[in-house]
Amino acid sequence: MSRVLTAVLISGGGSNMDALLRASAEPGYPADIRLVVSNRPDAGGVAKARSRGVEAIVVDHRPFGADRAAFEAALQDVLAARSIGFIALAGFMRILTPGFVSLWRGRMINIHPSLLPRFKGLDTHARALAAGDAEHGCTVHWVTPELDDGAVIAQARVPVMPDDDAHTLAARVLVEEHRLYPKALADAVRIMDRSAP
Ligand code: GRF
Repeated sequence: MSRVLTAVLISGGGSNMDALLRASAEPGYPADIRLVVSNRPDAGGVAKARSRGVEAIVVDHRPFGADRAAFEAALQDVLAARSIGFIALAGFMRILTPGFVSLWRGRMINIHPSLLPRFKGLDTHARALAAGDAEHGCTVHWVTPELDDGAVIAQARVPVMPDDDAHTLAARVLVEEHRLYPKALADAVRIMDRSAP
């Protein structure tokens, strides 16, 4: 299969994006990550992408105010102008409208720091600790209109230690995220390519 032109969407430090960029540089990796888009000008991931020679563009959501569709139209213009065929959300913190999600259905994935369907939404590590869970982890899933609800592609599990706080647990999960996401993105792109009409 030819490599699929892929964009990574970020809002912050981009550690998952960086793991994906490292994988994309490997020969034979099925996703060709040509673009990083951040909705925040101050995202640390923008500089990380540029330091790896990958185009990074900021589409600041703030000027659009509550008009999510207008922000997404600007985002879509950037993606379409580069013939992007697949999206990996990596620490992207904007809720996407059903319209944008349906446009990218079957071509957009996300990584979430919990063992979905447990702990959809935010503050997953604190919630796992509060629930007294013995294990926690991360999930890569297809993006659907319902938040953190799409079919699971891959998961990784970590033990919750007795002396964990949200910070130490998050750090243990993040290590697994960086291992899980590159393989899950490759699997997802291959699945999409096989199901293409
Ligand atoms: C990670 O826990 C990721 O699962 C969540 O945002 C956190 C930071 O991700 N979506 P990154 O370092 O910006 O990739």
